[in-house]
Formats: sequence, C-alpha cells, structure tokens
Amino acid sequence: QRQERIRNFAIIAHIDHGKSTLADRILEHTKTVSERDLQEQTLDAMDLERERGITIKLNSAQLKYEAADGEEYTFHLIDTPGHVDFSYEVSRSLAACEGALLIVDASQGIEAQTLANVFLALEHDLEIIPVINKIDLPSAEPERIKKEIEDVIGLDTSETILASAKDGTGTEEILEHIVKRVPAPQGNVNEPLEALIFDSLYDSYRGVIAYVRIVQGTIKKGEKIRMMQTEKEFEVSEVGVFKPNPVSADELSVGDVGFITASIKNVGDSRVGDTVTHANAPAPAPLPGYQRMKPMVFCGVYPVDPNQYTGLRDALERLELNDSSLEFEAEVSQALGFGFRCGFLGLLHMEIIQERIEREYGIELITTAPSVIYNVYLNDGEVIEIHNPSNMPDQQQVMAVEEPFVKANVMVPNDFVGPVMEICQAKRGEFQDMKYLDENRVNIVYDLPLTEIVYDFFDQLKSNTRGYASFDYELMGYKESKLVKMDILLNGEQVDALSVIVHRDMAYYRGKAIVEKLKELIPRQQFEVPVQASIGNKVIARSTIKAIRKNVLSKCYGGDVSRKRKLLEKQKEGKRRMKNVGKVEVPQEAFMSVLQMD
Ligand code: GTP
Repeated sequence: QRQERIRNFAIIAHIDHGKSTLADRILEHTKTVSERDLQEQTLDAMDLERERGITIKLNSAQLKYEAADGEEYTFHLIDTPGHVDFSYEVSRSLAACEGALLIVDASQGIEAQTLANVFLALEHDLEIIPVINKIDLPSAEPERIKKEIEDVIGLDTSETILASAKDGTGTEEILEHIVKRVPAPQGNVNEPLEALIFDSLYDSYRGVIAYVRIVQGTIKKGEKIRMMQTEKEFEVSEVGVFKPNPVSADELSVGDVGFITASIKNVGDSRVGDTVTHANAPAPAPLPGYQRMKPMVFCGVYPVDPNQYTGLRDALERLELNDSSLEFEAEVSQALGFGFRCGFLGLLHMEIIQERIEREYGIELITTAPSVIYNVYLNDGEVIEIHNPSNMPDQQQVMAVEEPFVKANVMVPNDFVGPVMEICQAKRGEFQDMKYLDENRVNIVYDLPLTEIVYDFFDQLKSNTRGYASFDYELMGYKESKLVKMDILLNGEQVDALSVIVHRDMAYYRGKAIVEKLKELIPRQQFEVPVQASIGNKVIARSTIKAIRKNVLSKCYGGDVSRKRKLLEKQKEGKRRMKNVGKVEVPQEAFMSVLQMD
C-alpha cells in the first residue's frame, strides 16, 4: 500500500551546521533536481534568504527514493526556519512530520538552536536521527559530539550517521535510515478530511498557496473546504505537490504533503496551524496546537519623503497578504509626521520587512526604536496595553507596569562564563541555572526582560565571546517592573519618537548615555541645540550640540578635488536619512540611540 511507503521528515539544525547543503545533497541524490539545475541551496528561495544565509519561509519537496529493499518510497522533506522569531512555524512544520534529521556540526557540537529544535521535535514525538555533519573538516571530533548528544539530549547515538554534506559522504545512509526508522504516516483515507496548514504563501496569480499535510481523508479539486479556525469556506481550485516546483495532482491523500489553492485572497484566511476540512462533511475537531502568531516587537515606520506615505501603505498591505504575523496601523508622530506602527514577531522579522520595503518598493524609511508590549495598570483599575512609549500615561495615573520576560539559554565555552553573566546582569537578567554540556562548554539560563534583548543583546554576546556564544529564548510571560517613561527634548521641544520606557534604577545612566549619543549623531546646526532627557517634568541629563563654526571643506586645504568631492558625497549620503524635527535635522541613527547602553 502506498501510504506505508511515505516518509515525512524535517531537518533540524543550528544555523550554519549545514541544513541547506544537506537538503541539496538529498535532492541531488534522489534526482529530484538535476545537478545542473541545482542552484546553491534550492530550498531557500527568497533573495534575502540567500544573502543572509538564513531560512525565512519554510518549504517542502517531494522526492522519490528507490531503497535498498527494492521498493520505491515517497519522501516529503519539510524545511524549517532556524530562527527564534519563527519558532511557531518550526513547530507547525514539525507537526507535519514523523521524523527529523538532527544535524550537528562535527566541530561545533550542540548549540542553542539545536537544543530548542530538538525539544520541539520531541514534543511532537518525532523519530530523531542524529547526523554529525562536516566530518571532512580537520577539526571534526565526531566521538566527542556523539557523547555530547547522548549526555545533553539523551538520545541513543549508536546509529548516528557521520556525514559530509559538502562531499556527499553519508547521503545514501541517511536515506536508508529514513526508510527504516521514520514511521509511515498513520491516518485513514475514509475519515473526514483533516489537513494541517504548516505554511502559506501569497501568489499574485493563484492567490494563497496553502502548504498542507493530510492527516486524515483526501482532498480534490472542486471540493468545498472550510478553515476550522477562521471558519472561512472556499472551493479548491488546485491540489498538488512540490517537486520542488509546484506540480498539479489529482488528489492528496493521507500522509501526503502538498499544496491547495482556492482563490484565497489573503494569507490571514489560511493561517499557519489551521485545519482544512470539507465544508459538507467536516472533521469533529481541528488538529491540536493552533496558536495565532502574535507580534512581540513594535516600531514606528515613516517614509523619509512624506509624499511616499501612500506608497508605504500599499507596500505594507502587499506584504501583509503574504505574512499574517505582520500587523500595522496608521500613526501620527509630531516629530516624524504620518506613518505606521508595525508589529513583528521579533527583530529579524522587523529587519526583513524594513529591508523589503526599501528594496522592493524603493521607499526610504525612518524607523523608531523597537518596543515590546507593556501592560499598564492605571489607578482607576483600568489595564491598558502599550506598545508605543510615547503613549504611556502620566506617571501619577500609573499604579504598576508589567513587561514581557523570556527564558534565555546561552551556550558558551567555559572561559566566557564571566562575560556572559556580566551582560545578562547588566540587562536586568535573573540567573536561573548553569549546566555543563561537556568539560569545555556550559549552558547558562537566565530570565531576561524581552525589551533588553530586542536590540543588541545578541551582538554583545557575540562580540564578548569571540563569536562562540549561541543563544535562544522562549517567552515566559509578564512580570512587574519599576518602569518609567523617559522623554527626550531637542531644542526645548519634546520629540515623541524618541520617548523610551526604562527601568527606574537605570534611568539616570540611560538618560546620560542617550543625550551623549544624540550629541554625537545629530550634526551641528546653525545654532546651539540643547539635548535633554526628562522623567515627568524633571530633567535628569543634558548635553549641548554646539553651533556650526566652519565649513567641512576647509579641512581639505584646497587642492585635491576628488577628495573634496568624496567628502561632499559622504556628507550627502549621511544626510539622506534626515528628518526635520522642529528646527533640528535629525538622522535615522538618532532614533535608535535611545537603545544605547553605554
Ligand atoms: P541556515 O540556513 O542559516 O540555517 O544554515 P544551514 O544550516 O542551512 O547551513 P548551510 O547549509 O548554509 O551551511 C553553512 C556553511 O557550512 C556553508 O558555508 C556550507 O558550505 C558549509 N557546509 C555545509 N556542510 C558542510 C560539510 O559537510 N563540510 C564542510 N566543510 N562544510 C559544510
């Protein structure tokens, strides 16, 4: 029977351990993609992904594999994003599988995302096949890594595969292990349809393409379907599979992984995690674990050129079609004019969207410092959610403020425990636990306020551990903190886009750092500009931007024309992202300076 020869699996790995390279080897070995057609890293389709070398949108591919037992098997390889911002998508794609290849770099060992992904895979009861990759490297230590996998994760490593995705070593063995160890899909073709949406993508020609795993029943073109969470109904216009390009099929049946199109106009109508069923013979209950992805990080997004406001709105609307976790609403800032308050899953998500707006839509942006969502308890008993610091009510009205906390795992070599703890401490972290991974490496667990890590936590970790730290976090919930709003005044005028919420004990220090940074970043004007930080009406820090004295060109001592031109160009470059705030010209970087720590 066909169902018995289906194998659905994902590849899970820490960033850079070789997931995409291995996926390429598998596509090649099964002749799914010919070597000639195989672009580097076929599964990472988006340009941005390729440039950044990270997987943003997951994808899937159907492969045919002729096994050593002489039977032909159908594999569905489901790609997963590796970044914490997208952990819900990872979880959904794992829910579409029965097994997972766990890739660990033979010279690096287990890293933070290895662990996070393994836990997700174990939650979904997946058969985990450890693969130690990059054994071609001179620094490879497969035996040490094996032991680490046993000690830290508790997996049996007696059947670990040693592989090199670079030269193809181990590929065949991996495929055989998938056949033998990953269970065939359960489920019954005669039951009412249950299909799990694990990704969805907007295509301007076909509408939304929902990536699905059929858990029960079958689905065909022309059938009426219902999305069980959103309760929207559609008529199926096409079903098919990815090879890895989309190819039409007659039907999808239990265990299959493929796509459905149904003239769906917005990905919000076919959300990741929702269950598709037949409208006239629905399943009794949706598949478990559905969760709506909620933005965690917000920032103001404004066009540098106010005339591009409508263009920006169009861009956001387009992007939203394809990204149901992006949220935005119109916002007016006294300082920046008309723009939008946008919500993102995390910082990477934020950067990706900003970059796409600039690159694909040609709109230059001014963005404000990212903010988390605060729960504000007012004296009159009301509770409000605030994700724009400038909306924080007066201190006299506020009884208490809660902020989101995360549980963070940081993995580092022994030598760096000190610096890591210093950073976590400086970020208001609460130490929880420390465990040895092996003789040389440690896993440190801290509870940290999300707001302290949204900006440069990871950069600081990396630079203070010579790049050795890996980091992962999960949201824990809200906790009360002594938080206050700090305002920034330029030339005596409060700039709403620069307001920030800070911990009371750090306010003085932060205020000082911010005004100093602004002094550095804001170019000298024709007049002297005082920069102040205040809480309520009380100024707690101040600096002054001196008036311009001499022309920058006078530094060039006449002579060299090309040098002069270069300098002018550089000045122009620096000026491009300027916004007039009152009478003061403020560059883009200034809006980020409120996150300045030192
Ligand atoms: P993300 O998509 O960012 O999660 O990374 P990834 O896990 O997909 O890693 P990727 O396949 O992009 O590989 C990362 C780097 O390691 C690339 O430069 C690969 O060429 C290299 N690499 C992958 N496998 C091997 C291997 O077996 N041996 C060696 N020497 N290098 C490898």
